Amino acid sequence: MAKARTQFVCQNCGTVHSRWAGKCDGCGEWNTIIEEDPMGGIGGGPTRAPKKGRPVALTTLSGEIEDAPRIETGISELDRVTGGGFVRGSALLVGGDPGIGKSTVLMQAAAALARRKHRVIYVSGEEAVAQVRLRAQRLGAADSDVLLAAETNVEDILATLSEGKRPDLVIIDSIQTLWSDTVDSAPGTVTQVRTGVQAMIRFAKQTGTAVVLVGHVTKEGQIAGPRVVEHMVDAVLYFEGDRGHHYRILRTVKNRFGATDEIGVFEMSDKGLREVANPSELFLGERNEKSPGAAVFAGMEGTRPLLVEVQALVAPTSLGTPRRAVVGWDSARLSMILAVLEAHCGVRLGQHDVYLNVAGGYRISEPAADLAVASALVSSLAGLALPADCVYFGEVSLSGAVRPVAHTAQRLKEAEKLGFSQAVLPSASTDLPRSGSGRLSEMESLPDLVARIAG
Ligand code: TYD
Ligand code: MG
Repeated sequence: MAKARTQFVCQNCGTVHSRWAGKCDGCGEWNTIIEEDPMGGIGGGPTRAPKKGRPVALTTLSGEIEDAPRIETGISELDRVTGGGFVRGSALLVGGDPGIGKSTVLMQAAAALARRKHRVIYVSGEEAVAQVRLRAQRLGAADSDVLLAAETNVEDILATLSEGKRPDLVIIDSIQTLWSDTVDSAPGTVTQVRTGVQAMIRFAKQTGTAVVLVGHVTKEGQIAGPRVVEHMVDAVLYFEGDRGHHYRILRTVKNRFGATDEIGVFEMSDKGLREVANPSELFLGERNEKSPGAAVFAGMEGTRPLLVEVQALVAPTSLGTPRRAVVGWDSARLSMILAVLEAHCGVRLGQHDVYLNVAGGYRISEPAADLAVASALVSSLAGLALPADCVYFGEVSLSGAVRPVAHTAQRLKEAEKLGFSQAVLPSASTDLPRSGSGRLSEMESLPDLVARIAG
């Protein structure tokens, strides 16, 4: 018998090394490499006789695809991010920090589907059946026909699932507790997690069941994170949120059956997660309209417009090097805006501390927020409040020019819906709405904007 070779696998990114090292070359993380058995995993066992497949013509498939519809939960924020519901025969990964609410949202989805007469099995490897029931009670879902199983062994899970009628949806909470008899490594290692996920994906494809896999994002590399299986599944959702705030965002990262960049917004309450149909209202909720340094940014999240308040505080510094602190935005981008203000608009901030905050703990990733940030900064420095009924969006280039951004019409429509009557936007915006009651101020460059605010 050939000598069993071992390999060294990074638990963070899955890179395979031939020898142990303190730092992974793949992702740069420290102490994430552990020894694993490469022959582990389903398929590593005794050889089997090959089975002949039969190719089919692409054109004959059209009917079959329509026959595999989606399973809608009726929780519209969740259906939006999945692209219209769970897809039969597919595997979906839901990742997120521990305690963010993954089990909660999935129990709610399971209960909603069970009420719609779907057969749903919730396999919990983290909590005992009694604990899961307790949570379901708290969510008002204890009366629904969700089937519970507390199982962690992959072979046992597959045997359990093969009992009785074929399920429509199976939830595995979580992939890090899965372990297979065929693998030698400890539960939570890359090999175990991948083997377990592979088996569940195969189950999904063979039976046409929708499988949802839960994965905890791990900071230290001792257990494998959801990233090591992202490439295997059909869709990946991440659950994000700030511990200090109640709202949670479900974000699509990958979706073979729908758009990415979609978000679903929820609010954590004592009775589980509540959908937030109009997130702009949530993020604008506690606005003080009279204070200088606040500008409302008309942003986009996927296909959905979202209004958030950007707050700036500019104050004379008592330190040698002034402070720059940012929450909810890119700090390099703030430095750039400060440099442009200084170089092209004569706004001197070298002797000022600058604090920037995005309200509600929300995180902006769009460059279109440049104009709102610049407005908030200038407003705070000048001590003049911006008009309360005005929204801002546009990208600022290093030359100080204001560049157009996409989805102008949608941003303006959302602003109008929420009672805003003015907008400051790039001058070369293309898809301007024909009608609309709002007043539009088109900006060509940042100095124009500064003159407008301070003037
Ligand atoms: P949970 O779904 O267990 O998180 P995860 O599965 O992602 O680890 O959510 C746990 C947190 O949510 C916990 O801190 C308590 C809170 N929570 C509520 O605030 N309200 C509720 O109704 C429930 C069920 C949980
Ligand atoms: Mg959980």
